[in-house]
Amino acid sequence: MNKKGFIFDLDGVIVDTAKYHFLAWRKLANTIGVDFTEVQNEQLKGVSRVRSLQKILAWGKKSISEEQFAQLMGMKNEDYLSYIDGMGQDEILPDVSRILDCLIEKNQPISLGSASKNARIILEKVALRDKFDAIVDGNDVSNAKPDPEVFLMAAKSLNIAADKCVVFEDSVAGVEAANVADMISIGIGDAEILHEADYVFNDFTEISTQFIEELINKK
Ligand code: BG6
Ligand code: MG
Repeated sequence: MNKKGFIFDLDGVIVDTAKYHFLAWRKLANTIGVDFTEVQNEQLKGVSRVRSLQKILAWGKKSISEEQFAQLMGMKNEDYLSYIDGMGQDEILPDVSRILDCLIEKNQPISLGSASKNARIILEKVALRDKFDAIVDGNDVSNAKPDPEVFLMAAKSLNIAADKCVVFEDSVAGVEAANVADMISIGIGDAEILHEADYVFNDFTEISTQFIEELINKK
């Protein structure tokens, strides 16, 4: 049987944690007197924690010491983790489990490819850890999306060539990373925002078994 490597982003693809990142960043931005909108938040999706804070500071024209920077990063993550703490399986996005089970049934290797350093905790919380053959997250990479490092590492972990991998992503930076890695990019979300993806679906309920089979058999 043909094989592709299936790589899933986490935040906003498997679980709706994008809303928690938004709440935590907004609270932090407001604490230091910086406005923070949903439009700006879109630009932080898929972006590492360090880079996100740098962007917020740049938007607010703030300069701070290294020590303060580290402190703010800690505050944001503590706040974020307080939301994560309450998470359960009901926060898995619609039909994600169906697609994962369909891939497992078809013997397709599956990896996580996330910028988050909290990825493992979250997968445990929602009891999806066992569905993945490999996990590559923010603790493993030194270059953040749109750099393709995270996806290339995932492909390697699965022992599948990059051009035989499929990436599910909700962020502009992640779609760009998948495209740079020469992988099939599937945007999950708004087609206008994710226009650079090879395919876009609003969510996994729109993805059929037939489409998965087509991906597996694609040259
Ligand atoms: C990405 C999110 O998956 O992970 C970003 O889209 C987030 O919003 C990044 O900043 C880093 O996550 P964490 O959990 O390490 O702060
Ligand atoms: Mg994401």
